[in-house]
Amino acid sequence: MSYAYNGSDVLHDVTLSTGVGSTVAVVGPTGSGKSTLATLMVRLIDPDRGDVLMNGMNARHLRPGEVASAVAFVPQEALLFDDTVRGNVLLGLDREDAAVWEALEAADVAHVVRELPDALDAQVGERGANLSGGQRQRIALARALVRRPRLLVLDDATSSVDPEVESRILNRLRTSELPSTVVVVAYRRATIALADHIVYVDRGRVAEAGSHAELLDRCTGYRSLVTAYEGGRTGRRTEGGVAAEDTNGDARSGASTAEADEGRTA
Ligand SMILES: Nc1ncnc2c1ncn2[C@@H]1O[C@H](COP(=O)(O)OP(=O)(O)OP(=O)(O)O)[C@@H](O)[C@H]1O
Ligand SMILES: [Mg+2]
Repeated sequence: MSYAYNGSDVLHDVTLSTGVGSTVAVVGPTGSGKSTLATLMVRLIDPDRGDVLMNGMNARHLRPGEVASAVAFVPQEALLFDDTVRGNVLLGLDREDAAVWEALEAADVAHVVRELPDALDAQVGERGANLSGGQRQRIALARALVRRPRLLVLDDATSSVDPEVESRILNRLRTSELPSTVVVVAYRRATIALADHIVYVDRGRVAEAGSHAELLDRCTGYRSLVTAYEGGRTGRRTEGGVAAEDTNGDARSGASTAEADEGRTA
């Protein structure tokens, strides 16, 4: 597939496939095209050239309802609305509270919601201001999971969640029946290592694909992105590469993203 914003190509002849039942990590420097790729996969946009096939069927020919019932996407900056927890998870979907709790459990945030004064009826505030960043991200994840998608695409969607909790969530997702296939745009080494298959994107191309060990061995860009920060220095995220080290072994050279977010339920 190829895709251009305003005539300027950001993805060039990208090909990738995600086997049913697998967990795929998409890794690459900032601005390399990961989010664009993620939004193509869930058909929020269509490629300019090439096609997205879902179960062998061209996604262009599927009805929006068919895509929506099979695929869920958690964007990099998920938005919560000034509504209750239930309203934010369901977004108009008609489901029993049990299904909402199940999704909150899978997103590892049920215990937080249980402690809110009104539980599912608690107001999250404007843009979820009553919750911490990591809690907001997990509510957004629950929003995707309550739809019981076959394919779940997470675009750096757990960056503010404590790395241990993030690993727990992903481990559960990759072994659960639904979603069967998980695509995760990720920076943290521990997260990436959970994937069966890794796609390394660089400047709008799939530069390499394989296992973590294979990519470490043969892909310099991947190696430097994933390993550069071991050791605990904090640093900046830079265009096209990694500037310094994050305390969490985070391959994003950005500000520390792990947030001790429990207890900030205000
Ligand atoms: N809506 C848009 N309009 C114009 N250009 C865009 C748009 N979205 C992304 N781009 C450009 O496309 C390129 C790829 O962006 P993309 O968001 O896919 O990168 P990314 O790999 O997800 O980066 P990050 O790791 O920072 O999230 C960038 O050069 C970006 O500036
Ligand atoms: Mg992105």
